[in-house]
Amino acid sequence: MTVGDEMDEEGTGAELSATLERSMARSRQIEAALDRDAARFRVLTGDRPTGNLHIGHYFGSLLNRVRIQDLGVDTMVLIADYQVITDRDGVGPIKQRVYSLVADYLAAGIDPERSTIFTHSAVPGLNQLMLPFLSLVTEAELRRNPTVKAELEETDGRPMSGLMLTYPVHQAADILFCKANLVPVGKDQLPHIELCRVIARRFDERYGRADPDRPVFPEADALLSTGGSMILGTDGTKMSKSKGNVIELGMTADETAKAIKKAVTDSDRHISFDPVGRPAVSNLLTIAGLCLDQSPQAIADQIGDGGSGALKKLLTEALNERLRTHRERRAALVADPGYLAEVVAQGNRRANQIADATLGEVRAAMRMVY
Ligand code: TRP
Repeated sequence: MTVGDEMDEEGTGAELSATLERSMARSRQIEAALDRDAARFRVLTGDRPTGNLHIGHYFGSLLNRVRIQDLGVDTMVLIADYQVITDRDGVGPIKQRVYSLVADYLAAGIDPERSTIFTHSAVPGLNQLMLPFLSLVTEAELRRNPTVKAELEETDGRPMSGLMLTYPVHQAADILFCKANLVPVGKDQLPHIELCRVIARRFDERYGRADPDRPVFPEADALLSTGGSMILGTDGTKMSKSKGNVIELGMTADETAKAIKKAVTDSDRHISFDPVGRPAVSNLLTIAGLCLDQSPQAIADQIGDGGSGALKKLLTEALNERLRTHRERRAALVADPGYLAEVVAQGNRRANQIADATLGEVRAAMRMVY
């Protein structure tokens, strides 16, 4: 590595943490505005259909989406099916995975009458935005994107596909086709939101407007998620299906009990909340706290010298109770694939109407109306 490279890396790191601080401050302002004036916002949020959702998704994003929807915000829930092929060869059992997501959304309280659940592969107008958007970014900018770099590292030296390089632009199309101005994300996604803002701005500068009084695209803000985004797997490391450390929302109460039984702990019988020194035990306390709406410290105090057996017993009961209604609803929904299909079809119809209207403005701004 040359000295120049090193300075570049450092520069990027410092920029990132400055962006993070700014985004956190901005997120707090937006939370206040959401309470006052929900109608000002359109939120876009979503998942890749790569597997079943787990308790990290539940506490980290699902409950937050429902909260935002219930504040009266127009919420778009994207099932990012095309994005599945950025880092893998096939799509897997995609339809089943899509319906599994929809079942969890509805079971958690996302209401298809108030929120739009859609798959982006079914929305041609969204995907067409890729063309003008790709004209607004350079290949060098895309190569510098830290999220693309991180994704690439996880693919074990697999050569980078054109889609991997450009998927942040596709994500901008996901956000901008519906003119979303708010995107709940974890901090790893901040570079994508920044690129989305750059694309909106450059579109205005280069191609102009359909309506002279306002740009075609808004500059979207990130809404940084807190809550369950810090939940780890049952072994105290990052949750990952391949490590078998995940508690899925669709598991039964028995399967949940088994997963918690084999969770990693340590030999200190005195239970304390110490995320740095005792990550695995602290993680179990965090999950129990989320289930019981208590602080992890309070739960640790309650268990005291009871040891990890008592902690696991408490967590098993708390988690199974917390998820009971969700799981009942989920099971009923999964048993009715016709209904799930209808929810997606209705969402896709609505997303297409929105996309076609936006594409009309894009054509007008670009003077390509024939
Ligand atoms: N990339 C996101 C993820 O891996 C999913 C996603 C796709 C997304 N398009 C988006 C998130 C647009 C926010 C906005 O979870």
